[in-house]
Amino acid sequence: MQLPYCEPYKIKMTEPIRNSTRAEREGWIRDAKYNLFKLHGDQVLIDLLTDSGTGSMSDGQWSALMRGDESYAGARSYYRLKEAIERIFGMPYFLPTHQGRAAENVIFSAMIKEGDILPGNSHFDTTKGHIEFRRAVALDCTIDDAAKTDLEIPFKGEIDVTKLEAAFKKYPKEKIPCCILTVTNNTAGGQPVSMKNIRETAEMCRKYGIPLLLDSARFAQNAYFIKTREKGYENKTIKEIVHEMYTYADIMTISAKKDGVVNMGGFVAMRSEELFRKASQFNIMFEGYLTYGGMSGRDMEALAVGLDENTEFDQLDARIRQVKFLGDLLEEYGIPCQRPSGGHAIFLDAKRILPNLPKEQFIAQTLGIELYLEAGIRGVEIGSILADRDPETRENRYPALELLRLAIPARVYTDNHMRVIAAACKNVFDRRETITSGYKITYEVPIMRHFTIELDKM
Ligand code: F0G
Repeated sequence: MQLPYCEPYKIKMTEPIRNSTRAEREGWIRDAKYNLFKLHGDQVLIDLLTDSGTGSMSDGQWSALMRGDESYAGARSYYRLKEAIERIFGMPYFLPTHQGRAAENVIFSAMIKEGDILPGNSHFDTTKGHIEFRRAVALDCTIDDAAKTDLEIPFKGEIDVTKLEAAFKKYPKEKIPCCILTVTNNTAGGQPVSMKNIRETAEMCRKYGIPLLLDSARFAQNAYFIKTREKGYENKTIKEIVHEMYTYADIMTISAKKDGVVNMGGFVAMRSEELFRKASQFNIMFEGYLTYGGMSGRDMEALAVGLDENTEFDQLDARIRQVKFLGDLLEEYGIPCQRPSGGHAIFLDAKRILPNLPKEQFIAQTLGIELYLEAGIRGVEIGSILADRDPETRENRYPALELLRLAIPARVYTDNHMRVIAAACKNVFDRRETITSGYKITYEVPIMRHFTIELDKM
């Protein structure tokens, strides 16, 4: 008999989670103003809000913490991380930051001015926020196929190079500080970008003299998909693929809280010494001195180990298999999701699950609240609340997709948890006809409103 698959690790430490009653959850979500971010962690049974900073570190990472050198300047831990970044990404300069959005803040401070245009593939919300905060424009050039949730294509997160070239032709070079390619494409469903697309994007950028920035939060998952889906890469190691991906990039920002599997950390890295010098002053101003930025020595140690460990095939395989396991169960139950399953999350297609709910009542948020009420499972809305208002007209933006993301933290939950999640989704799906009204906004801020928004029942 062929042995089934098992994870390439065993579990040394556990953390209790507790169930609650529906009546308790109704009170808690009301008190949280129907904003899932405002729930206490203890009010959640299975927390799929994000895979960011929520993964389980390995024994190697925990022991690396003890080696942390907390020298203010020139810490050994900084040089250890620098060595890992140079070896894995081939980037000679880097600035440590406390997380991904801080890396964006530092590099955008050095690069973006009012009125600039930044084309990309579905910029992440903090990226878009940092661009719009500077009165610049995040121009979405994602392939149209990304919005067709039923369509099974291997690289659904790509940038449309024709749309990109149109942008390069339309706007003068001085107005385009860089092109931002996000790997994997989180907003479109954790969908990957092929090496071919990265290469063609880089060629287009070079042709027009525009730098290419890779938003690298889930770079290792992207490399896994290149290995398993793109011809010519099946025999390459993840590290070889990552290395090639970054030969095409001029700059990278990274939230290390995802594929670095650390609880906090990020950095911006680049090839240009001139840009490094320019960005350095902003790192000192916003984050900290050049050799620690937003991280302590021990954080840098844990990240150096995490970057190495999580660019190995087995770790990625275990993680992505688990996401697919959940995706396959949902498919079996007939629940519409973004297909194929993403690298870090499953994205439920809320518009198709609740077709009778008007978009003005926040379809994906409504679905998220229903799933929480059903079983204490917390996902996150990737829909019109997240999309914010148009900075010019102040009208709500209604994106093509209303998704409820169920992000699976690395090495935290077992397949039994996946079964509970799938069953809870099925129960909500089975009573979808009874979900006839959504929510209205009672409080919001102008940028990145989803974190603090307050809602009430219609
Ligand atoms: N870029 C991408 C593609 C991201 O997914 C994130 C964060 C960031 C940048 C910002 O990084 O949170 O460390 O400041 N995504 C998290 C998520 C929050 O839940 O997807 P950060």
